[in-house]
Amino acid sequence: MLGATVTALLFVQAYGALDKTTLGQKYFGNDAPWYLDRVPFFESSDSAITDVYYYRWQIFRAHQRDLGSQGYITTEFIDDVSWQGFPSAFLDDATQFHFNEARWCRDRRFRVDHANFISAASQGFLRHFSENMAISVYNAYLVDGVRSDIVQLLDGMRTVFDAWVDHFDSSKGLYYIEPLADATEYTISSIDASCGEDGFTGGESFRPSINTYQYGNAIAIAKIATLAGQTSVADDYNARAAAIKANVQDFLWNSTYEHFIDRIYTNTSCVTYWDYIRGRELVGYVPWLHDLPDDTATFAQAWSHLMDTNKFLGAYGLRTVEPSYQYYMQQYRYDAATGLRECQWNGPLWPYQTSQVLAALANVLDHYPVTSTEGIVDADTYMTLLKLYAGIHYNEKRGGYLNIEEDYDAATGDPIVGLDRSSHYFHSSFIDLVISGLVGIRPSDDETLTINPLGAGLSYFRLEGVIYHGNEVALQWDSDGSKYGTRGLIIEVNGEVAATSSTLQRTSVPITRTAPPQPLEPISKSIQLQNFATYPDAPAYPVGSVSVADADPNKVQDAIDGRIWFFALPTDTYTISHGWQTPTGTGDSVWYMIDFGGDTVTTSCELAWFEGDGVDVPVSYSVEANVSGDWVSVSDPVYPDLVANGITYASWSSVTTTQLRLVFTPPTSLASRLVEWKVFSNLVTGDVFT
Ligand SMILES: *[C@@H]1O[C@H](CO)[C@@H](O)[C@H](O)[C@H]1NC(C)=O
Ligand SMILES: *[C@@H]1O[C@H](CO)[C@@H](O)[C@H](O)[C@H]1NC(C)=O
Ligand SMILES: *[C@@H]1O[C@H](CO)[C@@H](O)[C@H](O)[C@H]1NC(C)=O
Repeated sequence: MLGATVTALLFVQAYGALDKTTLGQKYFGNDAPWYLDRVPFFESSDSAITDVYYYRWQIFRAHQRDLGSQGYITTEFIDDVSWQGFPSAFLDDATQFHFNEARWCRDRRFRVDHANFISAASQGFLRHFSENMAISVYNAYLVDGVRSDIVQLLDGMRTVFDAWVDHFDSSKGLYYIEPLADATEYTISSIDASCGEDGFTGGESFRPSINTYQYGNAIAIAKIATLAGQTSVADDYNARAAAIKANVQDFLWNSTYEHFIDRIYTNTSCVTYWDYIRGRELVGYVPWLHDLPDDTATFAQAWSHLMDTNKFLGAYGLRTVEPSYQYYMQQYRYDAATGLRECQWNGPLWPYQTSQVLAALANVLDHYPVTSTEGIVDADTYMTLLKLYAGIHYNEKRGGYLNIEEDYDAATGDPIVGLDRSSHYFHSSFIDLVISGLVGIRPSDDETLTINPLGAGLSYFRLEGVIYHGNEVALQWDSDGSKYGTRGLIIEVNGEVAATSSTLQRTSVPITRTAPPQPLEPISKSIQLQNFATYPDAPAYPVGSVSVADADPNKVQDAIDGRIWFFALPTDTYTISHGWQTPTGTGDSVWYMIDFGGDTVTTSCELAWFEGDGVDVPVSYSVEANVSGDWVSVSDPVYPDLVANGITYASWSSVTTTQLRLVFTPPTSLASRLVEWKVFSNLVTGDVFT
């Protein structure tokens, strides 16, 4: 909802300007207005990468959960899971990807709100899993450029960083973690600690992941402290980062394997403290995600395993453990309710770690001098892996529709877990890999815009509508001039050509930091954070109810839970849908009521209705308020025609009430599904509402 400031956000277009209206309709259908001024538009000569780029913005939109007065957070699963933070649905392990993607969103609200939420949250669920939140928030700042926003997060970041002392072994100067708490159950350390019997829990080890995360977090804290003028804090965290780096390089590098690997922390009958694990894992590339390793020929050897088909590279992408491991791909755990296979990290292809490795590789190719990795990895490596990664989004074996799930079999490309919760899963990045890798915008805190495009072999691409340090940026590549009429690379800043090049090469242009557009922030008053049936401690209000007897309270809550998505999942594979669905229409009206629990000013609302599969929008609707005990129609209503699989914005003369209800008539013989009903106090008729 960019609201009244929308004019300030309009694209300044030049050169091969993309047709946003047509692209928006193609990729987002009736929901296009949400995206038009929020996302950079992109096209390329690789249609799968282009299609997945837009699909990943749908993922981003689906996972923005409006918490009302607390603003937005980004979620990992499209529905509640038992191990999330309640009642927000926050999970810390995915935040790295959420900020990587959000940093390219033209609407800053999502990343600013989410960072503020983390900063204010209680410590417990913030460290449910290992995390690199501080460095991820900082990396988003590098695109955004607003110093005052990042500086105020410093104390919260330090508190979270310091709390990890409970996973620190001071005798080694390294952090250890149970693989399950690293969001990667059934790794070599946990399976071997169980003597090959299991590996869901246990197997604490000194892992490249948590140590790199803490290295990155320390670097971020030091940089933010420097911005805040807190020199001694900066020195302290720089020293901690240096110590972690030295210990990772000295102790987690195994020269036999030429790889960073875990060392065991726990003692069992099968493993002993400080043993190296017996095999390479993909997590061994994570140190480059935050530029931890020195640029040496020794460490560069790790990259020689990446594209080796006997090691990490499977037919459809990267394995998390090599096939030589004794328990490679052995299935240990199944979902109790369905019997379907559960998550494991003993070989499956995980978009989660594929994203980390691609981001790490882009770092290596950008600022590790080529002498150490020359002949080992290059831009072609990056593009080969990015294309494979785009490919697995298509769910070929289930009909070829776009659906990123939890994990895959690298030999067949089939999804492995396939539970309801697995669909449209936001525990990976893709947009960021296109923009900071393929197109190659390399964010920094300098007053320059540096690009290092890795899109080798693409005959053309164009990205426009990036807001970088408050400036409008577009990039265009045309290998022979046949696409856009101008051969070569063009960098546009605020609609002017800032640099050109005949080849795809690293290029920097000066840029002046300026305040990015600040979106209007409607506060939703209607969000019911959690259903009482599943979370008895949930705030009592707001609460939804319906005129239909015996409605499922979880589905009633769905319609005011702050999430909007319109994905239609095949009903033979999944049972999940979002929103409250009416019984089949008979021509009579039904209602959905929100009880705010106290007098609330209401002026307008956002309605999201699903269409498809026996479901269509109501034939009529109106809003009623409980005024002095009677249901009365709101005054001066503006009720536009309902949009299917998109947003309808209705408004009325401000009325203060404790209860509001939406009265509507589903089409005869079809049901209607209310995906979301958000009620606002601070938007009025005439506000531009997208
Ligand atoms: C494991 O055993 C070693 C001695 O072999 C001991 O030093 C270490 O503290 C033990 N570790 C744990 C986590 O119990
Ligand atoms: C690497 O780890 C293996 C255990 O998997 C161990 O046998 C080997 O000695 C280690 N290499 C070095 C140089 O320590
Ligand atoms: C209107 O709200 C009041 C509480 O504020 C409630 O007692 C009353 O039953 C409601 N009226 C109707 C018609 O639902």
